[in-house]
Amino acid sequence: MVTYLEADTAPMKNTGHIKLYNENDFAGMRRASQLTAQALDMIADMVEPGLTTKAIDDFVFQFGMDNNAIPATLNYRGYTKSCCTSINHVVCHGIPDNKPLRDGDIINVDVTYILDGWHGDSSRMYNVGTIKRAAERLVEVTYEALMLGIAEVKPGNFTGDIGAAIQDFAESERCGVVRDFCGHGVGKLFHDAPNILHYGRRGEGVEMKPGMIFTIEPMINLGRPHVKVKSDGWTAVTRDRSLSAQFEHSVGVTIDGCEIFTLSPAGHSMPPYLPAK
Ligand code: MF3
Ligand code: CO
Ligand code: CO
Repeated sequence: MVTYLEADTAPMKNTGHIKLYNENDFAGMRRASQLTAQALDMIADMVEPGLTTKAIDDFVFQFGMDNNAIPATLNYRGYTKSCCTSINHVVCHGIPDNKPLRDGDIINVDVTYILDGWHGDSSRMYNVGTIKRAAERLVEVTYEALMLGIAEVKPGNFTGDIGAAIQDFAESERCGVVRDFCGHGVGKLFHDAPNILHYGRRGEGVEMKPGMIFTIEPMINLGRPHVKVKSDGWTAVTRDRSLSAQFEHSVGVTIDGCEIFTLSPAGHSMPPYLPAK
């Protein structure tokens, strides 16, 4: 049995119940998420061969500080960076370091700012210089998978409808859907109920109701779905070393569909993020 609770009266922890947020809460999520989206827009102008992921991390930290926001990953469960930077066969939770990006790399940058208590969680892919067609196709498939998942977000649909849409499409493109990580409730907490799986069948999971807020963040591999976590305890990589891509949005269920809180204010969605004319 799932229980839904008004977020205002729910304890501020993950009790397994699903929190329903009100219009004021949506406004808070909108502000935090738009700051995250703005940072991701600015990172598009930074990424090029030679840039280190540490430089991206420094930017994410400083941009947060300049806007009264704290990166949620800082000191989260022992993680010490302001964002995650996942290159090529890294699936997620890549740790920023001093290695320069190389021409042909694809990189995911995942940022979560906490602004006035609200968590805006989003990630995008970036091309480093000129990438191969296979990498470009993976990025396109992953973005389309996310958007097909988002298209299922409306009251009366089930969270499993999201996963089914993502899996059906990704597998029809002969890509592997990572099972080991999922989307999650988000709001005053970084990771809350429910889990949003990126695979499964229609009608599974929980029924969506207006006021629910969660992320969808499919990780799609050019090869098999299987991952392993490196000895640093964070960096997840594909077992077969195939390329992996991910996009993430924070969304809220409205009375007739959904609001994407983390949409790009610059109109950027897919790399190479050409300026809008
Ligand atoms: N931002 C990631 C997510 O989408 C979580 C990163 S947790 C970290 O849920 F500790 F690895 F940073
Ligand atoms: Co997330
Ligand atoms: Co994230």
